Amino acid sequence: MIILGIETSCDETGASVVKDGKRVLSNVVASSQEMHIKTGGIIPEQAARQQIKSILPVINQAIADGLRSTDYGKTKIDAIAVTVGPGLIGSLLVGVETAKTLSYLWKKPIIPVNHLVAHIYANWLDEKITLRAGGSTSRWPKFPLIALVVSGGHTDMVYMKGRGEIKLIGTTRDDAAGECFDKCARILGLPYPGGPAIAQKATEYLKLKTKNKLQMFPRPMIESDDFDFSFSGLKTAVLRTAQKTKNIQHRIPEVAAEIQEAIVDVLVEKTLRAVRRYKPKSLLLGGGVSANDRLREKFELGIMNYELGVKLFIPQPKLCTDNAAVIASCAFFNNKPAPWQKVSANPEVTITNS
Ligand code: KG4
Ligand code: ZN
Repeated sequence: MIILGIETSCDETGASVVKDGKRVLSNVVASSQEMHIKTGGIIPEQAARQQIKSILPVINQAIADGLRSTDYGKTKIDAIAVTVGPGLIGSLLVGVETAKTLSYLWKKPIIPVNHLVAHIYANWLDEKITLRAGGSTSRWPKFPLIALVVSGGHTDMVYMKGRGEIKLIGTTRDDAAGECFDKCARILGLPYPGGPAIAQKATEYLKLKTKNKLQMFPRPMIESDDFDFSFSGLKTAVLRTAQKTKNIQHRIPEVAAEIQEAIVDVLVEKTLRAVRRYKPKSLLLGGGVSANDRLREKFELGIMNYELGVKLFIPQPKLCTDNAAVIASCAFFNNKPAPWQKVSANPEVTITNS
């Protein structure tokens, strides 16, 4: 089954062609990041305007790359999948209305997709392999599983007994992990998006560092006996440090490494505790923050050191951040088409109510 995925929940415009939920035939992402770097963050209205300009060329490119066709390859597409939420309303509408129009014109089913659930499906995508007939499934995640979705707006830990059986076991009480990276970067005068900017500075520092422990900032809720998170206190601690440190500009790599370490420690520690409690077969990461090298490294080390016997899955970095391949994959595995008239954007949807 060939699905055209469309993703416009935040500032990216993505389109992708995916076969059988796993094989990425094309994955095109246009970003308006340049524009947001200038403003230090996303201006929703501007993001949506840019997406209106990008959406058709991006879809066209995805079909040309994936299906080697210029006639929109429409005859080969079996269904259209689109993010309906959560996200910015103006941005979501661009993708949803385009998908509905194509569904009507091409007479193809449309499958609405929850963006947060879709991040988990990055773990079923593989751009390099060709699926063998009746191919082995051992390389794919097994249920029950725990997934940690860490993005710009969400930090959700879920337990999944099977597909579509999603139970929220932990979430953030205030800022999301990605939001914390972004806000701390802003405090330090680093560009948007803050996660990659902080990670880059942190790497510079970690290469040179002489001291052993990074412990400048608190690890909020790391000891609490639940799986919830809180990152706004950390952001405040960073702000205070920035205000009272003379010549903070000379210490940016060190402070960046400290911020990264604090966020990563909490995410890893609490997730591994959930693994001990729930004993899943697989542990999956997804969302933009899971592109972070230090996070990936610490999860790998943690699983090995504690001998947890769980298989860890982390998507390749470009599948962690927003893209439409995960939307198409999620639609394949949760194939619930809807009449186009009934599909609408829902910015408030959560990971469990799709
Ligand atoms: O999943 P995503 O692309 O978009 C949302 O659904 O929000 O996540 C974006 C978030 C941003 O907060 C960005 O700063 C963060 O992911 N991010 C990172 C890295 N790459 C992206 N955070 C830490 N390290 C990275 N390498
Ligand atoms: Zn996302």
